[in-house]
Amino acid sequence: MSTAPIDATTTPAWADLTAHHTSFNGDLRGWFDADPGRAERMTFDAADLHVDLSKNLVTDETLAILRRLADDVNLGERLEAMFSGEHINVTEDRAVLHTALRRPAGAQPPLVVDGQDVDTDVDAVRQKMFAFAKDVRKGTWTGVTGKPVETVVNIGIGGSDLGPVMVYESLQPYVKEGLEVRFVSNIDPTDIAETVKDLDATTTLFIVASKTFGTLETLTNARLAREWLWESLLADGVIKDTDKARKSAVSKHFVAVSTALDKVADFGIDPANAFGFWDWVGGRYSVDSAIGLSVAIAIGPKRFAQFLGGFNAIDEHVRTTPFERNVPVLMGLLNVWYVNFLDAHSHAVLPYAQYLHRFPAYLQQLTMESNGKSVRWDGTPVTSHTGEIFWGEPGTNGQHAFYQLIHQGTRVIPADFIAVANPANPLTDGDTDVHGLFLANFFAQTKALAFGKTADEVRAEGTDEAIVPARVFSGNRPTTSIMAPALTPSVVGQLIALYEHITFVQGIVWGIDSFDQWGVELGKKLAVEIAPAVAGDDEVLGSQDSSTKALIEYYRAQRG
Ligand code: F6P
Repeated sequence: MSTAPIDATTTPAWADLTAHHTSFNGDLRGWFDADPGRAERMTFDAADLHVDLSKNLVTDETLAILRRLADDVNLGERLEAMFSGEHINVTEDRAVLHTALRRPAGAQPPLVVDGQDVDTDVDAVRQKMFAFAKDVRKGTWTGVTGKPVETVVNIGIGGSDLGPVMVYESLQPYVKEGLEVRFVSNIDPTDIAETVKDLDATTTLFIVASKTFGTLETLTNARLAREWLWESLLADGVIKDTDKARKSAVSKHFVAVSTALDKVADFGIDPANAFGFWDWVGGRYSVDSAIGLSVAIAIGPKRFAQFLGGFNAIDEHVRTTPFERNVPVLMGLLNVWYVNFLDAHSHAVLPYAQYLHRFPAYLQQLTMESNGKSVRWDGTPVTSHTGEIFWGEPGTNGQHAFYQLIHQGTRVIPADFIAVANPANPLTDGDTDVHGLFLANFFAQTKALAFGKTADEVRAEGTDEAIVPARVFSGNRPTTSIMAPALTPSVVGQLIALYEHITFVQGIVWGIDSFDQWGVELGKKLAVEIAPAVAGDDEVLGSQDSSTKALIEYYRAQRG
């Protein structure tokens, strides 16, 4: 993005927001009482997502100024710059084209970026992925003994893990019977050890997923998995102890997903079994690329195509809907309002859908790796706070754990509540529809957070005066309610795309490059430098600071 970032804090809209904030008094009770049309006016549909923003701490005026802020920072132009393949990832000089991964076949005009026919390349990899997924599902792809695959193990970390595992968990009802996907990410050897310990090597397929194919954790785990495969097959007398047999075992039990196909070949994986993607797909934006291979195998190509369709529906929404009804834009602007004007430090995401239990973890990488930055895309310091902390757990579990802080803590914590109307498991408890009971909690929580309970209401219940203050709920705790008909592949794609675009909107207002992640580099480099000291090299140990040195010495002493 050659265009210099516009400093949002110097725009007329920012000045107006500052003035607006000075006299701002959040009053959800009063606003709802005085304005019966508030909920309807502030509820919007984006594809299948039904999004109620009315319980946020905003008036119509707040929203109007926020929309002007979007105009002042040229948000519409920046969105187009992304969709059309400009190099908006400035620090890596790359286009940002995850949206190209879900363009429908035959979309016009064709997308050609930096001389690459993007649509054709995306389609070719997708067809290869789908053909492979079909083979595995049908049992025509077999291991060394001719047995079909029963367990797929995805080895990857960050975006090469969090997306696939979250989607796999979200779409459990669509997973083919008899097929299981497991995920190994951590370099803690416990992860791989626990994952493979009860597996049959002859029916296991490993997918090594790594954009760079240079990530320490993933390559270490891939080597451990390869060793396990060989040892298991040798122990069972399934293969001979020859290089040829080992190589052939790898070719039947390992495939890879990467942008670095040369490194895949160096690892010993047959290039025919490698699925490529491109440097214009960020790791945390890659579950809709070949990185989603494990999901495509689990749910099948047809469902995976519906999943991609869900993303595309939200891409179209963000691209074509006026800002006053544009859900990702409004949600991104609300987040700016909370972070920069109402001093929110964190943002809770609370899915009332057990299958979405990994969604908050997934969003942590998406949002915080994207927007946890202190410099803008031209290298100048940011002019306001950026990246809030995203966190959450499924409801109702969270209600019995951390909701106390959201209801009565001292900080404002905007919260997104996510629920689907139709359950995957429609159980009844006697005459009670349990999903209905579950969602009663969803509705109750946002109501309690918005409207609270006054001291008079507490007293009216006959509460001892001494404990009235402890039982008062201030209300005015902002929430967004996101509902959908059911947790289908398309809806999961829609939810992901919604948050991708929210993240983008915030990044544009803050003037930051939401697509690099230099902040993770230093720790990685130091780990490699420190490793010899941990392994016993006293010279490297001696060069450490006193704290690090003492900690390593403690470790070495404990290990004997
Ligand atoms: O360390 C951060 C990171 O680079 C993420 O951005 C990325 O998703 C993850 O590591 C894994 O990287 P790779 O897919 O290249 O192994």
